[in-house]
Amino acid sequence: MKFFLDTADLTEIEEAASWGALAGVTTNPTLYARIGGKLADFPEHIKRICEITEGPVSAEAVGTTRSEIIAEGRQLAALAPNVVVKIPTMIEGLAATRTLANEGIAVNMTLCFSVPQAILAARSGARYISPFVGRFDDISEDGIEQLSQIVVALSNYDFSDSGVSGQSVEVIAASIRSAQHVTQAALMGADIATVPFNVLKKCVEHPLTTNGLLAFEKDWEKVIQA
Ligand code: G3P
Repeated sequence: MKFFLDTADLTEIEEAASWGALAGVTTNPTLYARIGGKLADFPEHIKRICEITEGPVSAEAVGTTRSEIIAEGRQLAALAPNVVVKIPTMIEGLAATRTLANEGIAVNMTLCFSVPQAILAARSGARYISPFVGRFDDISEDGIEQLSQIVVALSNYDFSDSGVSGQSVEVIAASIRSAQHVTQAALMGADIATVPFNVLKKCVEHPLTTNGLLAFEKDWEKVIQA
């Protein structure tokens, strides 16, 4: 499984990229608003993320009609070679995804909550599909079970002729809220987990690692200095 960072915060992206294991970044309108982003600065901000990140960077189209989404998608894709256009899973989004995929533009279909949605996204040419785990949990459903069903259903079929030529579809486990979600996503074979910075840190840290390290440091002081 690959790790993407789910944030628009440049400091977090720079820090996580420096750890050496980051494979991409996903953003959305909420995450850009959270850092106090301004509309006029959005294209430059995405360009900067693309410079820092070795790997795909999802930037979301906010239009609601296919023509709006297609126009926005083309503009976003022109910002940098590693931009992936993020589009909600809905009828207008599917239609826009088909057009953009036919033009060789990679699309991440987001806000995906069911197997039929995921299959339609793959058939419309999406390069990535993002089932949301935590938001399913939020409504007292089992987000991990839903993700698992989507991973299995997609693995039953060959989508290599559906999208941008030569590129297969990958599942991004999104709306990830804990290291336990990451474990479960990895065990079921999700291709990617996109995680907030605090969750990525929790994935690295373990109390037994911290305690073990402290014990080693203490015992090293007892080693005879000669
Ligand atoms: O990648 C989608 C993600 O940002 C949604 O996460 O925590 O807002 O449900 P959350």
